[in-house]
Amino acid sequence: MTKISPSLLACDFSRIGEEVSDIEKAGAEYLHLDVMDGVFVPNMSFGFPIIEAIKGKTKMVLDVHLMITEPGRYIKETAAAGADIITVHLEACRDAAATLRAIREAGVRAALSVKPNTPVEAVYPYLELTDMILIMTVEPGYGGQKLIPETIEKVRTLRRELDLRSLSVEIEVDGGITPENAGTLVEAGADVLVAGSSVFRAADRAAAVAALRA
Ligand code: DX5
Ligand code: ZN
Repeated sequence: MTKISPSLLACDFSRIGEEVSDIEKAGAEYLHLDVMDGVFVPNMSFGFPIIEAIKGKTKMVLDVHLMITEPGRYIKETAAAGADIITVHLEACRDAAATLRAIREAGVRAALSVKPNTPVEAVYPYLELTDMILIMTVEPGYGGQKLIPETIEKVRTLRRELDLRSLSVEIEVDGGITPENAGTLVEAGADVLVAGSSVFRAADRAAAVAALRA
């Protein structure tokens, strides 16, 4: 079944605790946490204190998306803060293999992400080291953007490669995902849909989660 990972970036930050439990009640399996450093992406968001505050307060899988330069420096801290999955960007790592190994050594699921302009084939050498690949469907940095249609083909290409190699690696997609394009992404091979605006800004969040899954 398709998993939904609402992005906390779109929540009401003055009521984070209530927002988290509300989204859990709405039926989400994962909770997507976007960490930005203002260097790898042109924006800043939040860091360890927020992840730590959420840890233990929800049964949702804490899906931490590190949009930071040289994420290898912060794997231990991110794991200790409570991450269940840590995603790093291929473009941000000096040694992606070592970083992915460090994530697994910390007892956390390892994921690798590529930006829209990075060919999906660039992750092929790392597939054995990953539990999930995150294909960005917008330029990372901001919520509320429109999905770049060309990225959908990357999902299809990766799905084919994973099937060919009989690897059970999840494919996650992130950015501009709505009930209108979710079906196409799932049909292309996506397992996990990240959704910020389309869930948190919806009047009925449970209906929004169900619509994405449908
Ligand atoms: C963008 C982040 C996304 C973002 C998604 O850099 O990685 O997770 O919060 O938000 P929407 O769903 O609004 O595009
Ligand atoms: Zn994200």
